[in-house]
Amino acid sequence: MRAIRIDRFGPPAVLDTVDVPEPAPGPGEVLIRTVATSINPVDDKTREGAIGEGTPPLPLTLGWDLAGIVVDGGNSGLRAGERVIAMSHQLSSGRGTWADLVVLPAHAVAAAPGSISLVEAATLPLPGLTAWQTLDWLAVKEGERLLIAGAAGAVGGCALQIARARGVKVDALVSRDAQVAFAREHGADVVATDRHAFQERSYDAVFDTFGAFVTEAVADGGRYASIATQAGPVPGLSSRGVRTTVHQVREDGAGLNELTKLVDSGALQVRVHATFGLQEIHAAHARFLQGGLAGKIAVVF
Ligand SMILES: NC(=O)c1ccc[n+]([C@@H]2O[C@H](COP(=O)([O-])OP(=O)(O)OC[C@H]3O[C@@H](n4cnc5c(N)ncnc54)[C@H](OP(=O)(O)O)[C@@H]3O)[C@@H](O)[C@H]2O)c1
Repeated sequence: MRAIRIDRFGPPAVLDTVDVPEPAPGPGEVLIRTVATSINPVDDKTREGAIGEGTPPLPLTLGWDLAGIVVDGGNSGLRAGERVIAMSHQLSSGRGTWADLVVLPAHAVAAAPGSISLVEAATLPLPGLTAWQTLDWLAVKEGERLLIAGAAGAVGGCALQIARARGVKVDALVSRDAQVAFAREHGADVVATDRHAFQERSYDAVFDTFGAFVTEAVADGGRYASIATQAGPVPGLSSRGVRTTVHQVREDGAGLNELTKLVDSGALQVRVHATFGLQEIHAAHARFLQGGLAGKIAVVF
């Protein structure tokens, strides 16, 4: 079977399509035939060698997102032929999803949304779970005020829609005018490209997706979560009673099930900027690197 691997770090040219043995599922695992995947910033950083010590040994199959068809569900309750989505924590397990067949623990897999294609669904797992889990940590409740920095990005766009579905009042910091309409259409009230546009010390919670550290916005006694691992820890806010974290996403089939329900209810829409075939993997990465995206880059097997 085909897998997209690297045997050294570098630009997209180091991505190689190689023939590798088919994996066999063990106890508690599910064998999935990949239909589509997507590119996330972590894939890019891993390929470049920017992750450092946390990178599994080379050669390495890349990829975190997966949408596909169950081949062997083992005793997971998932049946052969079922449409599923999954997120593999590729950096901790070394199990990349950019392969024709992928074996994952059953706890990382969930039924795919029925209302969208598997190509669209492949863009959901990593950004969706990161948004879901970070909002859970922030524990924002109906009627509370949340500021999302990077609200039109992959994670931020999911967070905006999930928070609105939970009845949270959301304001949005975005990077460019082209993203303002997206944030407004998905329920953000105040939307701005200028971090100083937001009222100081007024938000119950801040969800920071790019290391903006808009710490002046969070209310005393509030919560501040960043997912921008490489930007480092959130500056200390304990003197103001603000709890902080840098959230790390984890495999979470139960969370994926909740995301599937939200998609099928119409509350959560995924955005695909462009779709590439596996044979176009270098072009797909070049497009990802170019930036200015309005949605994700999907890759079809
Ligand atoms: N800790 C974890 O477990 C975890 C999980 C998932 C992702 N992440 C990390 O979180 C980050 C976001 O991931 P993602 O998939 O959402 O990426 P993404 O789709 O590129 O979204 C990032 C968003 O932030 C915006 N942005 C960047 N700099 C900005 C600035 N100075 N002012 C306003 N907006 C700005 C970007 O705008 P442009 O499009 O204009 O650049 C984009 O809309 C990445 O660094 C990723 O590696 C961490």
